[in-house]
Amino acid sequence: MKKEEMMAIIEERIKNCQSCHLHLLRKNTVPGEGNIYSPIMFVGEGPGEEEDNQGRPFVGKAGQLLTKIIESVNIKREDVYITNVVKCRPPNNRVPTNLEIQSCSHYLTAQIEIINPRMIIPLGSTAATFFLGKEEPITKIRGKKFTWKGDIIIFPMFHPSYLLRNPSKEKGSPKDLTWQDIKEVRRYYD
Ligand code: URA
Repeated sequence: MKKEEMMAIIEERIKNCQSCHLHLLRKNTVPGEGNIYSPIMFVGEGPGEEEDNQGRPFVGKAGQLLTKIIESVNIKREDVYITNVVKCRPPNNRVPTNLEIQSCSHYLTAQIEIINPRMIIPLGSTAATFFLGKEEPITKIRGKKFTWKGDIIIFPMFHPSYLLRNPSKEKGSPKDLTWQDIKEVRRYYD
């Protein structure tokens, strides 16, 4: 079966998913989008309001900043794959619960198996915790390399929402570090 067909099956399953109560609140599921042949994948926490409205990941303010970050190293947003740990919006953008993550994350795992990326970039603590298996402060783990399921490189970065709350561009600030991190990501894209 072709990758496109496999991804379409996953997307259809997500669309019809009722595994946790988040399905009762959603306007749309947000499966993910982008190039399923990309060597890099960005994984956020979960859809926000705008994502829920549109059924697309990272299309609100944080998403616009993520797009800017990606495009700063001459990669087009549509040339990478972007998704989230959970595919439905948690109410008031709260952090998804462990139960919600547990009932949803097999979709993410399936997406990763189809794409088989060289590098996964978890954005923020929730996504990083999913891949690392334990919670660590994002300030401690961003810009470091870990591995998952053998040979996939996990390279956590700050969540763009965090950068919106911390706009300083001073040397050593989260934004400054992010601009360094994305340059490292670029090396794994070619
Ligand atoms: N924040 C996320 O973690 N994911 C989105 O898709 C949007 C905002």
